[in-house]
Amino acid sequence: MCGIFAYTGPDATAGAIVLEGLKSLEYRGYDSWGVAIRTADGTISVIKHTGKIGSAKLPHIVSHTALGHTRWATHGGVTQANAHPHLSSDGKIVLVHNGIVENYQTLKRELQELGYAFRSETDSEVIAHLIAETRKSVSDPVACVRTAFERLIGMNGVVCYFADDDTFVAVKNGSPLVFARAGKARLLASDPAALAPHSREVLFLEDGDCIAISPDGDTYYGADGMKKQMVFQLLDFDPEDAQLNGFPHFMLKEIHEQPELIRRITEAQEEAVKKAAVMIRESYGTYLVGCGTASYAALAGTYLFSKIAGRHVNFSIASEFAYLTQFIRERSLVVPLSQSGETIDVIDGVRDAKMRKARIMTITNVQGSSLFRMADYALLLGAGPEKAVCSTKAFTAKVALLLLIAHELAGNRERGQETLKQAAAAVADVLDRKDELRALAERMHHRDHLFVLGRGVSYPVALESALKIKEVSYIHAEGFAAGELKHGVIALIEQGTPVLIYNPDDETYHDTLSAAHEVKARGAYVIGVSSRNSDVYDAYFHIDDCADATIIPNVVVAQFLGYYLAVLKGFDPDKPRNLAKSVTVK
Ligand code: F6R
Repeated sequence: MCGIFAYTGPDATAGAIVLEGLKSLEYRGYDSWGVAIRTADGTISVIKHTGKIGSAKLPHIVSHTALGHTRWATHGGVTQANAHPHLSSDGKIVLVHNGIVENYQTLKRELQELGYAFRSETDSEVIAHLIAETRKSVSDPVACVRTAFERLIGMNGVVCYFADDDTFVAVKNGSPLVFARAGKARLLASDPAALAPHSREVLFLEDGDCIAISPDGDTYYGADGMKKQMVFQLLDFDPEDAQLNGFPHFMLKEIHEQPELIRRITEAQEEAVKKAAVMIRESYGTYLVGCGTASYAALAGTYLFSKIAGRHVNFSIASEFAYLTQFIRERSLVVPLSQSGETIDVIDGVRDAKMRKARIMTITNVQGSSLFRMADYALLLGAGPEKAVCSTKAFTAKVALLLLIAHELAGNRERGQETLKQAAAAVADVLDRKDELRALAERMHHRDHLFVLGRGVSYPVALESALKIKEVSYIHAEGFAAGELKHGVIALIEQGTPVLIYNPDDETYHDTLSAAHEVKARGAYVIGVSSRNSDVYDAYFHIDDCADATIIPNVVVAQFLGYYLAVLKGFDPDKPRNLAKSVTVK
């Protein structure tokens, strides 16, 4: 949440470089944005706006140094004053921040008593003044930032620029920060994908680490304050992967990438899958944890492990996991699922489990991310950058990996690979018939409510489908276990209410069909997604049967419905209101 980008180097268009960096980070927050540029005479020029960056351009200012921020509001409304960067009172210290300063009110009162005047309502401005105040007694920029940072409670990432010293200092605790060198240029960002156009080799700052970039060179310090060697990692994706490449939206592009991605996972992940299966086999209890879409992939995992491998694997929403870790012990295995690898609710639970000596096996899309680094073993989804705020390809990639691991545990790897190949082909077929889904969306886009039903492993898919639809189209969509219908939900069905029903040809088929009849009898407009048509469906979308992998093409139906509903209602599917990718605050 919130994107940070900073540049210093030989190029005289630093402001424009930072603006481009912010555009690629905008999915981390789009309430407001701002850029601070060091002008030729050493003064700082700040440009801030509310709303999305869109195709914004900056006035041309000759500059070799700039830093910027794209904001997801936490403390203080969406106003220009609350947009970052924030300046110290004398305008010589510039600050951008990602995170929450939990004790900001105490610090603010203290600074106000010392005579500091605040221009914004943010917790971030407190840090700028705190650094300025600290500088009175600690002149070295690194020591100064470190001393001030130690007073902050919470998970924070800060990049501070001292105009007088022409020095950047970056420090983090929880919120991600990545550093890169590109020739003589130095760059910092909250996400490696933003650095990829400049350099494929990046350094992920560890918690408590600090980096200083000054005219004398760049220096890296560990949490103990001692100089530390920089270890750069080669990014595993091409910068081209982060472009629209002819698609109108990233969501649509990422939906289309799924058949190829599933094929790749089937073929390329054999060693990782074997190792994961061994870790699960050797554990005293395995716990899958994740948030939002990742939590639904985790829940699907519990069904897949039970059905395919006869193995009980626990599941918890990551934000609740911290209240359930009392039974975690040595040899427990915790499996965080996270596209970004930076979701704070997941990190918190994993940290707690690590303290209890659990082993950690992360499944993530971002190499070098916090959860990647916290793991004893990490599996990479290899899905390439996911830029749309709502997750599509990362969900199917997680489910594909879990399904392969379950088959590996059951000793029938080939069967898993075979069903995934069928699933990849079935997804390609959904892509070919997407106009049918657009027509369905046209029929439904004026409705206020929509329900999604499924049983067994189709239940988590119903939850994920409802999330996909509601988060981009703002239609109230709810997913339910089809069997729960009679226990309350059915009261919500009215004449014409759309009900999407997943009814694969498995052990749930007949019971789910009964649910279809029950809602139909109460006036619902029933959309059946199945390999078998039935008279009960008002609309039918055929999905080839791919055994337990059928949930993969099934969810793609809802991804398209969400996309088309959003577009028909005039919303930007890539940047839904109030949301941001990579939820690094609580
Ligand atoms: C929904 C969505 C979110 C994320 C959740 C976890 O489309 O994208 O629900 O799945 O915030 O994010 P990661 O997977 O990065 O931990």
